[in-house]
Amino acid sequence: MSINTSNIFDSAAEAYDNTFTHSVIGKAQRKRVYHWLNKVDFFNEKNKIFEINCGTGFDAEQIHNKGLQIVATDGSGKMIEVAKEARSTEIDFFKLQFSEVAKDEKFKQSTILFSNFGGLNCLSKTELKGFTKDIAEVQTKGDLIAWVIMPDQCMMESFYFLLKFKFKKVFRRKQNESLKVNVDGVDVETYYHSPYDLKEVLGDKYRVELTKPVALFLPPSYLESFFKKNKFLLKVLELLEKMFGWISFYSNFGDHYIIIARRL
Ligand SMILES: C[S@@+](CC[C@H](N)C(=O)[O-])C[C@H]1O[C@@H](n2cnc3c(N)ncnc32)[C@H](O)[C@@H]1O
Repeated sequence: MSINTSNIFDSAAEAYDNTFTHSVIGKAQRKRVYHWLNKVDFFNEKNKIFEINCGTGFDAEQIHNKGLQIVATDGSGKMIEVAKEARSTEIDFFKLQFSEVAKDEKFKQSTILFSNFGGLNCLSKTELKGFTKDIAEVQTKGDLIAWVIMPDQCMMESFYFLLKFKFKKVFRRKQNESLKVNVDGVDVETYYHSPYDLKEVLGDKYRVELTKPVALFLPPSYLESFFKKNKFLLKVLELLEKMFGWISFYSNFGDHYIIIARRL
């Protein structure tokens, strides 16, 4: 996907909260993201958050409710429309492409650039490098990036395809430069980035402070219908997530991982 074409998500906007935000898997995965954000004092009231790919604004509302300043943006006009309708009117939501972030005046005043649940997987590695270079020029020493990204291997996905005898798909994330992922009937070009790729992308401008798996044992969201009927199994996986999901080395094997880095 080109860095400027996120309107492709317009068609997903109305259903997004039902299919992901309020799904049992979506809620369990987001809980893990917040668990890690808490570890770096993300929700401290002195932080000024600039959120990209905010979708329908669920995170923005949580952040706002905790008393932080938050500006929330997304490239899809429809996502922003839904966010404005569904969330507090006090939150500043507006349409913004990744390519416009570095030039944005409100971004310049922020201290943390936040991206949740794979928005940045819409960029190829080259595009992500360009994006990071631009934002590094604006962020100042001590500012943070907190990004949740889909890595190029996923243990639960591989296990699922093995059980289904779909052997060609077991390592599909790693075998292809990008995959077309169906988002409410529309194919979205998705690029998977390992934590090693991310460290390379961040280069010597940032120091990585934390990399942790998000959904090492929790399943990918396309398994929602199964886990909705098997909540006990999901509870067991949540327990396994708590037991083993703190090991940074496993970041490249979850459905997502979180990377938090500080501008040097
Ligand atoms: C999977 S959704 C994530 C939504 C939200 N962050 C959440 O936690 O549920 C990905 C979002 O990335 C946005 N996006 C994709 N490409 C973009 C781009 N080039 N510029 C800005 N936003 C983009 C989409 O519009 C979509 O809302």
